[in-house]
Amino acid sequence: MVGSSRIAGMGRCVPERVLTNADLEQRVHTTDEWITARTGIRERRIAREDQATSDLALEAAREALRAASVSAEDLDLILVGTATPDALFPATACILQDRLGARASAAVDISAACSSFVYALAMGHAYIVAGMARRVLVVGADTLSKIVNWEDRATCVLFGDAAGAVVLVPSDGRRGILSFWLGSDGSGASLIAQPAGGSRLPASRETVERGLHYITMNGREVFKFATRVIPRAIEEACRRAGVDPEEVDLFIPHQANIRIIQAAAERLGQPLEKFFVNVDRYGNTSAASVPVALYEAVATGRLRSGDLAVLVAFGAGLTWGSCALRWG
Ligand code: UT7
Repeated sequence: MVGSSRIAGMGRCVPERVLTNADLEQRVHTTDEWITARTGIRERRIAREDQATSDLALEAAREALRAASVSAEDLDLILVGTATPDALFPATACILQDRLGARASAAVDISAACSSFVYALAMGHAYIVAGMARRVLVVGADTLSKIVNWEDRATCVLFGDAAGAVVLVPSDGRRGILSFWLGSDGSGASLIAQPAGGSRLPASRETVERGLHYITMNGREVFKFATRVIPRAIEEACRRAGVDPEEVDLFIPHQANIRIIQAAAERLGQPLEKFFVNVDRYGNTSAASVPVALYEAVATGRLRSGDLAVLVAFGAGLTWGSCALRWG
């Protein structure tokens, strides 16, 4: 058994096209004031028409491999967390495996919506600790702009596209991953969903006419769930790591809404300054949100070698996941 795993390199990809709140004012009945006050989002990135999730994932993955000095051929496992795969099957991870030239790697997608990256990270970690893999590429990538109803102001203002990737390698246990906590509550499955396109409601002329291939969401219920689960998930990851939330240098939460992060910080009794925030620039990028935030936290010096961090995500399913780690 290996002691633990650690992140040896990271990458990220955000599309070039910026969509501002002012742009959205031209499309739906909304205002910059409403979006900023209710969500904290000012702009988001939107993929080109010819850009799919694997295109963003590929760029992020290449950067992560370079940063980790790991060659694609040395990868044993590729995990892609996504709710917007290139197609329902084959897995986007397989498309990525081919495009990277990762000939010796297994590849599979993980579907836990916005929690997918933390779930995939836990699975990659478990493979390493069990000795079943030595080099794991973990990606969180989504292009929710492709399944958002651009006429629905309640959802279209919230989401953006991005990908984040990390390379996990074995560690001695002093640095790297300290703990995970994953959870689910399928009784809330209908709160955020893409109702049609699966085996329950196969795509048909009728499902398209009724807009059932778009994201549907009960925003208020998801908001309440998120503010409850984030503090709990942080506390549980800390408890399992044998540390106190007080000792954590930086919390890296799923970037869905600044008010959710504020409420969670308050409930936890921790200052908002200890929470990394970039929701203003990217909106909610689903599975990409946590790895992109982690990447930027390190790039901007907010997370330094030796620091204690807790990643925390929540999303459709309902699902949630948290991870305590010692950076470096
Ligand atoms: O990754 C997980 C994904 N989802 C989330 O994290 C979502 C969690 N939920 C939220 O972030 C918030 O619930 C929202 C931002 C979605 C909505 O904020 P809210 O404060 O819960 O607003 P609300 O849904 O209670 O709506 C308040 C009002 C409504 O009008 P009435 O019924 O009071 O007249 C909405 O129709 O705001 C209206 N509204 C808008 N107005 C202007 C909803 N969307 C917009 C909009 N612009 N874009």
